[in-house]
Amino acid sequence: MSKINKCHNIKDFRELAKTSLPSPIFHYIDGAADDEITYKRNTKAFDECYLVPKVLRSVENINLGTKILGKKIDLPFFLSPTALQRLFHHQGELAVAKAAEKFNTFFGISSLSTVSIEAIEKINAPKIFQLYFHKDRGLTNSMIDKCKSYNIDALALTVDTITGGNRERDLKTGFTSPPKITLKSFLSFLFHPKWTLNFLLRKKFDLPFLSEFVKEGTDIRISVSDYFSNMLDQNMNWEDAIEIKKRWNGVFCLKGIMSKEDAIKAVDIGADAIMVSNHGGRQLDGSRSPFDQLDEIVDAVAGKIDIICDGGIRRGTHILKAISKGANACSGGRLYLYALASGGEEGVTQSINNLKSELTRDMKLMGLTKISQLSKDNLRF
Ligand code: LAC
Repeated sequence: MSKINKCHNIKDFRELAKTSLPSPIFHYIDGAADDEITYKRNTKAFDECYLVPKVLRSVENINLGTKILGKKIDLPFFLSPTALQRLFHHQGELAVAKAAEKFNTFFGISSLSTVSIEAIEKINAPKIFQLYFHKDRGLTNSMIDKCKSYNIDALALTVDTITGGNRERDLKTGFTSPPKITLKSFLSFLFHPKWTLNFLLRKKFDLPFLSEFVKEGTDIRISVSDYFSNMLDQNMNWEDAIEIKKRWNGVFCLKGIMSKEDAIKAVDIGADAIMVSNHGGRQLDGSRSPFDQLDEIVDAVAGKIDIICDGGIRRGTHILKAISKGANACSGGRLYLYALASGGEEGVTQSINNLKSELTRDMKLMGLTKISQLSKDNLRF
């Protein structure tokens, strides 16, 4: 039995990732802002409500399919866009894309992707691009236009990174993109020769969406937090979101909406979806968890816009709880990133499969056969 097959859940994959990666890389994935209170709450919030199962309901055949961002997908969750994936495994975004293809669910491509749009073009799974609004409008527009010409299915404008979060683990380990070997991290790289050789000997590290325009992140080492603070436009506002939506002219999502007021504004500007997200607790520590915030957002905008609960999901039951509260689907980053670090495409496939098996079993135990049957009646607090 391979180490990957022994990973029954995301926690197991986290442990395996910890041993597979040099510590600056592991802590970049695993870490969050300040005291990481929000990061912890994102998952903990799910433990504070309980499911009420029903029985004797013929549940042999379960359909986990749903519709989100204009596409039918076979799972009620998808793989959120995350940055720098070739640092976690040499296959990078391509591994994640191929795993998503097997399950027919969305996968994300970040502006800070380490593979090109050409490399993932042929993947037959719905694709969501995560746009960071750069000061350099030429760069921002080039990404939107590329997404149009390569038939990306949805564009998510990230709205929660107006400045960099305080990621103290990255400060401690000296994590940058591209990574630098410091006196402190040297041993960690030395003790992970597989990672280090892959990094040094395979295709040169690159951020293809950015590198034509900016050197930071590719030729100039920078922390992700400083990248956000220095390269992104801190004056981004609702008018800019409207302009981006217009230029894109396709399925449009705002990633990082946490308040009811902003959810209503998203509806007003004609967005198709919101990702209720606090960026995995990596931006504003002390902010509420997506699951906690779902109630007010669902009350305000359900039925008018797709609501995606992004963050903290580690179990199938978490997804059932979020959809019971009124989310249309869920998404997450770490739910597949530890697995990517542990075993590339095979790892991500196993991690999605674990969640899929959990969901199927949980639906049966709940006495439900279709995602549309989930409702608030299933929950008690
Ligand atoms: C992060 C960005 C890049 O590090 O998504 O959180």
